[in-house]
Amino acid sequence: MRLICFNWKMLGDLALLQQYSQLIPGKDILPVIIPPATMIHQASAMLESPWAIGAQTCHNVASGAYTGQLSAKILADAGADYVLIGHSERRDFESEVYLQAAYELAVAAGLQPILCIGETLAERPSVTAVLERQLVWLEHVNAGEIIVAYEPRWAIGTGLTPSVEELSGLFSWMRIKINEIIPRQAAKIRLLYGGSLNSKNLNEFLSSDNIDGGLIGGASLKIEQVRDILND
Ligand code: PGA
Repeated sequence: MRLICFNWKMLGDLALLQQYSQLIPGKDILPVIIPPATMIHQASAMLESPWAIGAQTCHNVASGAYTGQLSAKILADAGADYVLIGHSERRDFESEVYLQAAYELAVAAGLQPILCIGETLAERPSVTAVLERQLVWLEHVNAGEIIVAYEPRWAIGTGLTPSVEELSGLFSWMRIKINEIIPRQAAKIRLLYGGSLNSKNLNEFLSSDNIDGGLIGGASLKIEQVRDILND
């Protein structure tokens, strides 16, 4: 089964949600819609199985006087099943310490985290060192399943992508590294690719045995592309 996540970011509207609700996902796809937080509740009411609902982030504190913030529990109560942790568009103001706390609270609230990792263009020559730093605290989290989305920052929204061959090597390395960090999780690791995926290139990326699914941004807003992706 392919896990395909549609991250709307701060885009999309109720009309698009309505269009999503008319689509019929293929039988080998586990689709996750990740709309703005205000639409999580409506999405969970409007989209039937196999759809699952995701949140784009959650706070690093369980509850309290944090005006405007959303805790993992509040998101779970609204209907979220998944939550992105460490999306690159948030990493500039969320440290690894913040992300670890948010991850732990997500698990405690019954959400499945999707940990997003990736290097900038300048960091590309030392990509594995960067990814290791972003993965290493998983050692401390108590998780049933580990889902990691590798999203090179230079590939997000740019139309640029690594080659499938490059990704294949990197994903093998990631799987070994995650097993080293948390050996007890060995059988429960899912690795996604994200960064300029669309209905045309998705199958090529997902043809690699190492890649278990995709995290899609821009193409999530184009209903024809979403339909094609769900049909595969
Ligand atoms: P993109 O975004 O598909 O527009 O590159 C991916 C993401 O930010 O998760």
